[in-house]
Amino acid sequence: MSHLIDKTDFPIFNDKSLVYLDSASTSQKPKVVLDTIKKVYEHSNANVHRALYDLGSRSTELYESSRKTVSQFINAPSSKEVIFTSGTTASMNLLSYSLESRLEKDDEILISHMEHHANIVPWQQLSKRIGIKLKYLPLTKSGDIDLENSRRYFTDRTKIVSITHMSNVLGTINPIKKIAKMAKSIGAVYIIDGAQSVSHMPVDVQDLECDFLAFSGHKMLGPTGVGVLWGKMDLLNELDPFLSGGEMIEKVTLETSTWNEVPYKFEAGTPNYVQAIGMGEAIKYLSNIGMENVYNYEKKLTSYALKKLQEIPNIKIYGTPEKRGGVISFNIKGIHPQDLSQFLNEDNICLRVGHHCAQPLLKTLNETSTARVSFYIYNDFSDIDKLVDSINSTISYF
Ligand SMILES: Cc1ncc(COP(=O)(O)O)c(C=O)c1O
Repeated sequence: MSHLIDKTDFPIFNDKSLVYLDSASTSQKPKVVLDTIKKVYEHSNANVHRALYDLGSRSTELYESSRKTVSQFINAPSSKEVIFTSGTTASMNLLSYSLESRLEKDDEILISHMEHHANIVPWQQLSKRIGIKLKYLPLTKSGDIDLENSRRYFTDRTKIVSITHMSNVLGTINPIKKIAKMAKSIGAVYIIDGAQSVSHMPVDVQDLECDFLAFSGHKMLGPTGVGVLWGKMDLLNELDPFLSGGEMIEKVTLETSTWNEVPYKFEAGTPNYVQAIGMGEAIKYLSNIGMENVYNYEKKLTSYALKKLQEIPNIKIYGTPEKRGGVISFNIKGIHPQDLSQFLNEDNICLRVGHHCAQPLLKTLNETSTARVSFYIYNDFSDIDKLVDSINSTISYF
């Protein structure tokens, strides 16, 4: 299969020369998503959950129907367990505040050396607030979590385990079901950072046996400014709200307040309902393709890219994990990644260079910066050929 989708579905590719290889950062948007957003503003725009007139009912229906679409996509037992946030970072911050009351000084939170800053910094901040310890699971040379040497990190003080499903630098797809078993055996709350996985493979929260899953709409063909925190209902019922204000309350007196039911308890203020509706449309687009097809197509692209890149002289590809998604980080000896990016830009090729918001991981790789290509459904094999040709021309120049 040389193409998965019709590229003309994506207006940005009206520029035929564009080679977009930075979807791990953010994805491009199909016209159906852009049209939906415009249509909502033009025909159904009113604040949700408060207006009694028809327009308000229409926007509320669209918003709640998007919640159902999200919940079916990840096989959540109930759509009420889907909280709309502004993205993975916001979801992680919500958890780091809302879980605080369950923790005591010297409790431990376990993450790994391959986490994005969004799954490191909120826990560090929590540690500063209440004195918990943050521990990091080690990695093998190939860029997998070293499960063999990880058992001793799971102790009776470990209260939270929070792991990325897929690394945004190495592409590693982690054995999160095995880690779930380890987390459950010590009674820890298990969180999955799904920012790179939910968009690229089938994800079923019941099968994964996690307690929480965080992901972002903009990485899965949806608009910016919307993401999701899914959580198990019994835990969500127990947790304190994070942001407070309008709509998240049941009753407010001069002295105190009580909370609305889940998920509204966690959606203070006017929610990003138009973006959430756009995200629902993006999920419908992905579901029509089928997430298994998305995963298999990207796997083929990645194998092809690895083969072609490995033929480039003096290239170093980081991590060759057992199971990987469509993300490859590399450096070429003698060419700074920033220079590489500038040269590729001349050929209208977009790739990311830098630390990819994963400085601790880059440190374990002994690097401060790598070049990274990441694929999505609109990429094809010719994009990889153009990338490799452009890298080779850059090498000739240097
Ligand atoms: C693994 C991972 N986690 C979290 C994030 C943060 O996502 P957002 O910036 O959408 O909040 C990213 C973004 O690149 C990511 O790759």
